[in-house]
Amino acid sequence: MYYMLALQTRPHEASTPHAAAPAASRGASFVVDGMQFAYRPGKDIFRNVSLKAAPGEFVALLGPSGCGKSTLLNLLSGFLAPNAGVVTIDGRAVRPELDELGYVFQAPNLFPWLSVQENVRFGLRMAGRLGRDEQKRKALHYLDLVDLADVADELPNRLSGGMQQRVALARALVLEPRLLLMDEPFAALDAITRGAMNEELLRLWSTLGQTILFITHDVEEAVFLADRVIILGFPPDGIDSEVVVDLPRPRERRRSRTLPRFAELCDVLLQRIAGVMESRSRRPLAPGTEPVQ
Ligand SMILES: Nc1ncnc2c1ncn2[C@@H]1O[C@H](COP(=O)(O)OP(=O)(O)OP(=O)(O)O)[C@@H](O)[C@H]1O
Ligand SMILES: [Mg+2]
Repeated sequence: MYYMLALQTRPHEASTPHAAAPAASRGASFVVDGMQFAYRPGKDIFRNVSLKAAPGEFVALLGPSGCGKSTLLNLLSGFLAPNAGVVTIDGRAVRPELDELGYVFQAPNLFPWLSVQENVRFGLRMAGRLGRDEQKRKALHYLDLVDLADVADELPNRLSGGMQQRVALARALVLEPRLLLMDEPFAALDAITRGAMNEELLRLWSTLGQTILFITHDVEEAVFLADRVIILGFPPDGIDSEVVVDLPRPRERRRSRTLPRFAELCDVLLQRIAGVMESRSRRPLAPGTEPVQ
């Protein structure tokens, strides 16, 4: 149940063969082509969205609340099916049970009655992958990668919020997904813990080489992490625009954030989001919703 992905829309095609992928990338490519989706007939959330990501690319998805970011992730993970168009991962139609996918949500959603190690192992158990000892070994390996091997036998309620979110990350990584879909995974954390998690994620990504699609509301987080930022407009507009993050890697918080280019890119993204908000306020009201005089 833990999976991930990437995306795009509009007349232009959001796809950048990116320069910063780890050398030995084992990430998956994905393609969204001409996708249309509505929860209810006549109320399109997306109308003709197209988006691509190269193997190992780190794509951030930014946009105001309600614009469809989580919906897009769910379409990429196969939890939702488009009404028209195609969604493929490495050329194969997406399905939720695809091994290639990993998903990290905003809340850790750990099982409170299972230990940290058992939570991480859970997906391997459900998939019937590997024997019990090998599952444990692998769970401990990924807990070690997120620096939590020493609390493997604790119950989740003994851990801080940041530690629980690292367990959720290990739980997704243990399946060794090639596409990681992350839906505001660090939004509930304080700024210092979030910064540390951002660096941790980049360290893991540079080692493991997955393709990542990362939803955030935070322009600084998007610029710090991503190769490319996609800005989503309000339904049914789909992709508003995209911005390539031409900052050097490896990125390190104190160094990267002081670069003049970092501030410039944040400004560009803020302006794009302001444009999206403005376009919505200019939109005529739907019939029957005019304000009463
Ligand atoms: N299960 C659902 N049934 C009907 N409409 C839905 C459903 N889930 C979301 N929506 C609608 O789809 C639109 C996009 O929702 P979505 O959750 O994808 O937005 P979001 O960009 O992730 O927002 P946020 O930043 O607040 O998480 C919203 O108008 C929302 O009301
Ligand atoms: Mg959402």
